Amino acid sequence: MGAIDKNLVQKGQKIFNEKCTACHKIEERYVGPALKDITKRRTPEWIMNMILEPVKMTQEDPDAKALLEEYLTQMTNQNVSLEDARAILEYFREIDSK
Ligand code: HEC
Repeated sequence: MGAIDKNLVQKGQKIFNEKCTACHKIEERYVGPALKDITKRRTPEWIMNMILEPVKMTQEDPDAKALLEEYLTQMTNQNVSLEDARAILEYFREIDSK
């Protein structure tokens, strides 16, 4: 992936604050996992799939399945568009670059 796009980071942060902070914090475990270093432990494709189709992922992907067994709450579909999911990914890349 290329250089971090600051505009996309801002957009992603805004969407994250609206749709994800009910269950996620960056630094600490909450309803779901802490998301710091997510871009180091998962591929960009995996992260995008988890944002777009969390239910399918916890049914079909071994790593997502294991998370559900640990957290015992199903991440719900937040109706994020492909474009918005890409912006959130950029926000995660920015966090992990620090
Ligand atoms: C209802 C609570 C909830 C909401 C809202 C939610 N998540 Fe989750 N998320 C979870 C849980 C719980 C897991 C662990 C998998 C599972 O149990 O479904 C998870 C897992 C993840 C993972 C994988 C974490 C890892 O360590 O691999 C990512 C990435 C993620 N969520 C991103 C998001 C983003 C981005 C949003 C907002 C668009 C969001 N989540 C909204 C509860 C939530």
